[in-house]
Amino acid sequence: MLIACISGSPRENGNSVKIINKVASYFQEKGARTEIIKLSEINIAPCIHCDFCKTNDYCNQDEKANEVNGILEQADAIIVATPVYFGGITGQLKCLLDKTLPVRRNGFRLKGKVGAAIATGGTRNGGQELAIKDIHAWMLIQGMVIVGDNSHFGGIVHNPLEKDDAGDMTIEGTIQAVSDLLARMVKL
Ligand SMILES: Cc1cc2nc3c(=O)[nH]c(=O)nc-3n(C[C@H](O)[C@H](O)[C@H](O)COP(=O)(O)O)c2cc1C
Repeated sequence: MLIACISGSPRENGNSVKIINKVASYFQEKGARTEIIKLSEINIAPCIHCDFCKTNDYCNQDEKANEVNGILEQADAIIVATPVYFGGITGQLKCLLDKTLPVRRNGFRLKGKVGAAIATGGTRNGGQELAIKDIHAWMLIQGMVIVGDNSHFGGIVHNPLEKDDAGDMTIEGTIQAVSDLLARMVKL
């Protein structure tokens, strides 16, 4: 069982990294393998729609994106945390999600994987749900199976993260929802 955890923040020690570390710790304790992908460490340029991936199963522009795609293809679940930037996801995350096009065009290789999203904003109603919708759209278009937080859309938190107890519950609910679905799928 492999859980891929993506932080869409350019900040090395920001909320998204803390959130994704918490997610990874949970699944590690359950005995799963985890891969943490931090966009503070990886520079991915925007997709230029060259269509190389229409006839090839990888991106000829971006070796880093191919590495990430390799991890995502192996994962059973993909959990994405992003800061809210102007009511949506970060540019860094958008660049990565667009660079998964080769995986879709060549066999829908993320199909059926469990997906969940978590958004962290500067303020309580800063557009977290909109940012989550961006991630959910990517997951749906990749053929993934989405869960929320067993209540609403997923993890929704705001600054300061350490004081947002209600938000923390949505992160825990999201982790639980992913975990529950994976357990059910294994039983099948
Ligand atoms: C360019 C930019 C745009 C932002 N836009 C929003 C926004 O629309 N809504 C919001 O609540 N916070 C906004 N923020 C604040 C961040 O979402 C917030 O500080 C977040 O917790 C940072 O996450 P990180 O620590 O993982 O980088 C913005 C920050 C930046 C740098």
